[in-house]
Amino acid sequence: MWKIVTLVVLCLCTLKYGVNAENDTKTTTVSNTEFEPETIANDGEHRRTCHCRCGERNEASRIVGGVETTVNEFPWVARLSYHNKFYCGSSLINDRFVLTAAHCVKMFMWFMIKVTLGEHDRCNNTHRPVTRFVTNVISQNFSYSNFNDDIALLRLNNVVKITNTVKPVCLPIDVDKTYVGVNAIAAGWGTVGEKKNHSCYLQEVEVPVLSNEECKEGKYSAKMISDTMMCAGYLREGGKDTCQGDSGGPLSAERSDKRHEQLGVVSWGIGCGRVGYPGVYTRVTKYLNWIKNGAKSGCFCTA
Ligand code: ARG
Repeated sequence: MWKIVTLVVLCLCTLKYGVNAENDTKTTTVSNTEFEPETIANDGEHRRTCHCRCGERNEASRIVGGVETTVNEFPWVARLSYHNKFYCGSSLINDRFVLTAAHCVKMFMWFMIKVTLGEHDRCNNTHRPVTRFVTNVISQNFSYSNFNDDIALLRLNNVVKITNTVKPVCLPIDVDKTYVGVNAIAAGWGTVGEKKNHSCYLQEVEVPVLSNEECKEGKYSAKMISDTMMCAGYLREGGKDTCQGDSGGPLSAERSDKRHEQLGVVSWGIGCGRVGYPGVYTRVTKYLNWIKNGAKSGCFCTA
């Protein structure tokens, strides 16, 4: 019991300290309706604009045949930890919010979740990545029974500075786009195989997006794959996939302007890389308005 109380006090102190560190004297109230005053215009609309560009991948020379990303190649990928233990991925969508999977936050105490941005090697923090705590979790009616609505927004205790190594991913523009056949990239520190260890270095894997019809022709039963999900992977070959610990992380694809938009959130799968069982992702286009609305107190890049 005392352990829990101490932890709560400790965590709340950390939160408060985090706020003070930004010279913000207002008290942190944790609610859905907390907005920074300067962001609200007369009509109640949020007008703060951020002159940044979303979705810019940091291209560098690639590791041949490897799946390790280059350092900060995907500057929107963020790591979630609980009790200082890594457990899920997430992605920065504006200067105040990360997007993740609902199953990464359900049954977790939000004030104990730590978000780490701008990181590559999670085992050896030589370059001091950016860390934030969570002040609010926004999610829907996620249930473990069907994994529908496996999506959540985490509001960070302080805004993050958009830099070369910490940058938001773009959100889709076209809500009707299915992405079938698109070569998408998932990134995460998840296990490098079933029953293997989590990776120290951020990994990436390229997987083609399947149509939901195609996906249902694999080994999943049709009722498991709902319209708000998306499958990606090699149905017949298997081999390339996300795995445990990658959950909540982004599945993104390059647009014609070379910038990345997030089309999926790593959600579930049976085993990893098994033939007939592609990775299943939450379909971001189905939640676009929900995301924009939920994250509106943050500042989206104007470009
Ligand atoms: N549910 C897993 C997690 O919590 C992600 C599984 C993804 N599995 C897959 N085969 N693509 O990390």
